[in-house]
Amino acid sequence: MPTPKTPQDQFTFPKTSITVRRMGYGAMRLAGSHSWGPPNDPENAVAVLREVIASGVNHIDTADMYGPHVVNQLIKKALHPYPAGLTIVTKVGARRLGERKVEPGYSREQLTEEVHDNLRNLGVDVLDVVNLRVGKPLMPIGASIEEPLNILLELKEQGLIRHLGVSNVTPGQVAEATKMTDIVCVQNLYNVTNREDDSLIDSLVEEGIAYVPYFPLGGFTPLQSSILDDAAKTLGVSPMQIALAWVLQRSPNMLLIPGTSSIEHLHENLAAATITIPAEIVSKLDAMSASQLTI
Ligand SMILES: NC(=O)c1ccc[n+]([C@@H]2O[C@H](COP(=O)([O-])OP(=O)(O)OC[C@H]3O[C@@H](n4cnc5c(N)ncnc54)[C@H](OP(=O)(O)O)[C@@H]3O)[C@@H](O)[C@H]2O)c1
Repeated sequence: MPTPKTPQDQFTFPKTSITVRRMGYGAMRLAGSHSWGPPNDPENAVAVLREVIASGVNHIDTADMYGPHVVNQLIKKALHPYPAGLTIVTKVGARRLGERKVEPGYSREQLTEEVHDNLRNLGVDVLDVVNLRVGKPLMPIGASIEEPLNILLELKEQGLIRHLGVSNVTPGQVAEATKMTDIVCVQNLYNVTNREDDSLIDSLVEEGIAYVPYFPLGGFTPLQSSILDDAAKTLGVSPMQIALAWVLQRSPNMLLIPGTSSIEHLHENLAAATITIPAEIVSKLDAMSASQLTI
């Protein structure tokens, strides 16, 4: 990824000294199938992570539940001691147990254990940013997040967490969180065909809070559409690059964390940061809806 030429290539989390490149990396895909267990090729996973850093990325998204433990341990193996300026964002609120079982992890005991799992497996004394992950299927949509957020605030007071974010949240839950404390980022599902968060994103721009869309490429159902294909053909790039460039262009608080286990895809994704989609193509993409996906 070329060195940032303009302030628009970077984002500073509100009320922090943390500035990251807007094109980051999501590490979930480094675990085995559906992010369970170890990858088939651990050496490749280490090579991808080292290439992430060599390419100038300084924002990695992870969670100790990926594997579980596997992805954080790979990050530590590949990158520790961490380069100056790298921000690792993790999440708590769900725990993966034994045989592909996921359970909520919002109690004091569970959140404390999850934070310590992240610290140990990443090999750090303090976590840069921790997202409280709520939402379905672990918590009813829109339920109060006051109790688990208060527990994380206590862990922050203890010096184990620098900054907090929230994930899989409704606008009401974001408002609840921002009344309680400074939130630096919101991580929700969003991409060119899933835009339920449009008005939330606009309000976060005003507050200077980062919006970090997960599944920017469609996640487990990769985006496929003739509109993306046509745009890609016109600009001489790939449809996935169009999907990423559209999100980056969407608003200045967008931080991307596309996931990949492939160095080739990593390079392709990072190069999307250099694409400017002309207005007439943006309006065609803006008009896309889920019904125009070819699945
Ligand atoms: N907060 C939450 O609840 C939550 C939920 C899910 C994910 N996340 C985070 O969000 C990050 C991004 O989500 P994600 O990785 O699930 O989904 P994604 O970025 O939308 O898509 C990843 C998928 O796209 C493929 N891919 C990546 N680059 C490609 C390219 N250039 N061309 C073709 N295929 C490509 C990957 O396969 P290859 O490996 O073959 O490249 C992988 O199957 C995760 O890594 C994780 O950190 C958060």
